[in-house]
Amino acid sequence: MTPDSAAKPRIKVEPQSAHPGVVLVTLDRPEVLNALDYQTMGELTDALESLDTDESVRCIVITGAGDRAFAAGADIKEMAPATPVMLSVANNFARWERIRRVRVPLVAAVRGFALGGGCELAMACDMVVASDDAQFGQPEIKLGIMPGAGGTQRLTRALGKAKAMELILTGRNIGAAEALERGLVSQVVAREETLNAALALADEVAAMPPLAVRAAKESVNRAYELSLEAGLEFERRNFFMLFASDDQKEGMAAFVDKRKPTWKGR
Ligand code: CAA
Repeated sequence: MTPDSAAKPRIKVEPQSAHPGVVLVTLDRPEVLNALDYQTMGELTDALESLDTDESVRCIVITGAGDRAFAAGADIKEMAPATPVMLSVANNFARWERIRRVRVPLVAAVRGFALGGGCELAMACDMVVASDDAQFGQPEIKLGIMPGAGGTQRLTRALGKAKAMELILTGRNIGAAEALERGLVSQVVAREETLNAALALADEVAAMPPLAVRAAKESVNRAYELSLEAGLEFERRNFFMLFASDDQKEGMAAFVDKRKPTWKGR
């Protein structure tokens, strides 16, 4: 890596003054369809972790710069010379685990291609808003490899085994309409509306009581990891715990008083 390339940030982090509590994080390598090289993934992970400890941040929207891609995957040119030893020693893929632990809700605003690591990043977010021309896929098989950042697990949970197998074993993509129908994305909108729709969704989440939002996110994610019994128990504990918060008292009092609640995050 040259000193120049190291100096140029690969992501942009922009708090949205028009959307209180919402921060827009943009993958900023449009010339290579926002390919996720290690520097980008490092900056992205560091930024998400830092925003996650900032109480004023209530929801993060992740998008890709330019109009062609959210992200076209891991950076193939950077990854091409890798060996198993290099991948294991550098441990760059551990960053994906750090993204999974971010507590603030993440919304992916996907325009164009979300392929390979790009699809995996969209799936690592909590909600996906897609443009009507978005394409999702795990084309790694065409490179002689397979998905390595969650694709075999998250795509299978999202689409079911047969469809996930089809995409992963052929490298085919699916379009936005099919992604919506199958639950991979939560909204499909016109291309030029994608970012606004994602920010509007983030606004709605950001306006909710933050402790309840975090507990609910954590509980929904447990649905993928625990048995139904353990998941229900986890949910109930989080539910009970929220009754220790000021926001629960405020939310219920405001309902009874027929006024708007004011959340403290306490
Ligand atoms: N890595 C590095 N560079 C990439 C890239 C990637 N994943 N995807 C696109 N680019 C670069 C291209 O090399 C090209 O750069 P140059 O102009 O310097 O040649 C530029 O972005 C524009 O791309 P194309 O010219 O290829 O654009 P296109 O419209 O003809 O095709 C595309 C678009 C179908 C998305 C095609 O770029 C493509 O197939 N990209 C690779 C997709 C892929 O295989 N992703 C999986 C990567 S492996 C992975 O992600 C592993 C994992 O699980 C983490």
